[in-house]
Amino acid sequence: MQRFARPLRTLLRTTNSRAVSSTTRPIITTPTISTSFLTRKMATSTTAPTGADAFLSFVKSRRTIYALSKDLPIPTSRVQDIVKEALQHVPSSFNSQSNRVLVLLGAEHDKFWDLTTEILKGIVPEANFASTAARMAGFRAGAGTVLFFEDWTVVEGMQEKFALYADRFGPWAGHSNAMLQFAVWTALEAEGLGANLQHYNPLVDEKVQQEWNIPSTWKLSAQLVFGGRAGEPGEKTFEPLETKYKVFGA
Ligand SMILES: Cc1cc2nc3c(=O)[nH]c(=O)nc-3n(C[C@H](O)[C@H](O)[C@H](O)COP(=O)(O)O)c2cc1C
Repeated sequence: MQRFARPLRTLLRTTNSRAVSSTTRPIITTPTISTSFLTRKMATSTTAPTGADAFLSFVKSRRTIYALSKDLPIPTSRVQDIVKEALQHVPSSFNSQSNRVLVLLGAEHDKFWDLTTEILKGIVPEANFASTAARMAGFRAGAGTVLFFEDWTVVEGMQEKFALYADRFGPWAGHSNAMLQFAVWTALEAEGLGANLQHYNPLVDEKVQQEWNIPSTWKLSAQLVFGGRAGEPGEKTFEPLETKYKVFGA
């Protein structure tokens, strides 16, 4: 049974009369305020952040959450709409649109993690398998998995068409795919879900192709597991900006 409670969204609706309706901007609707900067800003203002601050609030509040449940705060149709919007609008080199997605929900999600567990059972030494099995059970406890692929018929088509950049189209397909992963991860967490990103490719590629009739030219790149939030993210540390950032001409 799904829950449809959206406490944060309700709060934002009451504090921000200019909040954008979910029908006009389906992805960016509910800033989740978790940083001290934004919390301070909220404390001195009756309105939710707007513009880049609203977007950055989502960027900051996206975290890796391993404790997941099957109890989603939004309908699975909304999850699908979010994935579809991101898939259509995330950029790709030369607008080549090499990204592909498979969304597994409910029993199909369970099946994916069961088959991943089976594959790992054949590889991981028996003595170490208990911790692997526990990790798999954690992913299976979620409500769904988004599998991200790059379609190499598109990449190869671009390589033929633009020979000068032939060696760049593979990495660029990866960049675009990573942008899509980030967009979906961030958008789902903005809706109050929890999610974490996994990489059981290429171990599972063949089984996924067989089970869900996926073309062999779709190269699996990542798996985003999502569900209801059943725990908090771990502590996160930050390297000082000075070691990572330069500006000239400011
Ligand atoms: C490219 C990439 C690959 C990652 N691969 C994995 C993974 O295979 N398994 C996992 O549990 N987390 C994975 N993560 C999650 C990172 O460990 C996590 O994002 C990082 O520790 C920062 O924590 P945060 O997501 O809470 O901000 C990956 C993240 C990125 C961006």
